[in-house]
Amino acid sequence: MTTAQQYALKHANRFRSELHELLRIPSVSTDKDYAAECKKAAEWTANQLASIGLSAEVIPTGRHPLVYAEWMGAGPDEPTVLIYGHYDVQPASKEDGWDTEPFEPVERDGKIWGRGTTDDKGQFFAHVKAVESLLQAEGRLPVNVKFIIEGEEESGGESIAKFVHDHPDRLAADVCVISDGSMANKGIPVIVYALRGITAFEVTVYGPKQDLHSGMFGGTVHNPAQALAEIISKLHKEDGTVAVPGFYDDVRILGDNERTELEKVPYTRQAWEADTGAPEPWGESDYTIQERIGARPTLEINGMASGYWGNGVKAIVPEKAWAKISCRLVADQDPATISKLCQDYIMAIAPTTVRVEIKQFAVGTSSPQVDIDTPMMQAAIRAYEKGWGAAPVFKREGGSLPIVGDFQKVLQIPVILMGFGLNTDGLHGPNEHMHIDMFHKGIDTSIVFLNEVAAL
Ligand code: BES
Ligand code: ZN
Repeated sequence: MTTAQQYALKHANRFRSELHELLRIPSVSTDKDYAAECKKAAEWTANQLASIGLSAEVIPTGRHPLVYAEWMGAGPDEPTVLIYGHYDVQPASKEDGWDTEPFEPVERDGKIWGRGTTDDKGQFFAHVKAVESLLQAEGRLPVNVKFIIEGEEESGGESIAKFVHDHPDRLAADVCVISDGSMANKGIPVIVYALRGITAFEVTVYGPKQDLHSGMFGGTVHNPAQALAEIISKLHKEDGTVAVPGFYDDVRILGDNERTELEKVPYTRQAWEADTGAPEPWGESDYTIQERIGARPTLEINGMASGYWGNGVKAIVPEKAWAKISCRLVADQDPATISKLCQDYIMAIAPTTVRVEIKQFAVGTSSPQVDIDTPMMQAAIRAYEKGWGAAPVFKREGGSLPIVGDFQKVLQIPVILMGFGLNTDGLHGPNEHMHIDMFHKGIDTSIVFLNEVAAL
């Protein structure tokens, strides 16, 4: 054990109580009512980074502030590691099915429970504590370190994208490490080499000018809820594929070698059942579950609403119906192109008995792939071997991290996606948690990673 790892072990309880402070701030980026909380989380993070010896600042943006911090004391001959994370979280309230208050973290059963524990406060904080441990135990870091922590990841991340394009010099580095993902199980760490992209829009179907008496007008007015259901029913074919013409045109074909590699990711049908609670799998039967999640695009209805949902009967023809729709994309699909294909198709199949409006959301990100044959990747592999205690497997991830593509394109550096969480940690859902031992192993892994980058 290195002296930095000893320091981390000795201060483990304090590290977690500091994390609790950050978890108590409801920094929900998608809801503008929480803007002040996002600012508070940014300030807390900057103070934390300053308190461990970095020069840190809160950078205002058009929306939620960025946090930037650096320690460049290793000198110009040593490499620079850029560490990215996000302090913003998904919305959460007790009524969503939480056993405890989402913004009052508790430790129970070896886990910390609370919104943002694993996505992503606990994961990026592991790197903060690794840096503190190295600085305190050894008086210096083996490499230069820059932190960029954003507050809009869960809602599109426009501000950081703009910052990266406007100030690439400030973020210049030799490698970027991101811990905002998950591994197959505690014993088998995972390095993600591909993420999916995303695009999202909202469809509103308008019928009559207001809710109508269904006895007086039903059967003469095309019910918007029904019309929307008819449209939605045409978005997929019976075999589970997306019916939008051209949807698959640019999808990169999955090679046989890669399919063989992906089979090594330990994810069974039973694990899928336990994770989802759904009766049985659905989707493209030509692809395994792992392939469907990582390498195939999807079109999802994220929400639908219409009409009356209160107690008892209310016999109406509702005025309108809406649906929120998003597509997960794979290489080489372009988010704007796919959105246009989907929207054109919806407009083409929309009946003339209703009026359809579509609003595109700002989220839109392509699907980055990471080169796995780089020296930096070797450092990451050794970090997991020595810090976590097991060699990682490589997998594709179904989620999206909008900034990864910008880091690759603008900063031209390798990105290492090194998760310290689990798929079962309840990300975006109720009872989100992070395993306490995984938080601490994440700190150890980060310490080893920084040492390994210096040794390259
Ligand atoms: N941490 C997730 C992405 C993720 C999930 C990576 C699971 C690995 C495993 C991230 O915070 C997230 O949820 N991103 C959004 C981005 C979107 C709103 C643009 C996503 O994927 O939905
Ligand atoms: Zn996240």
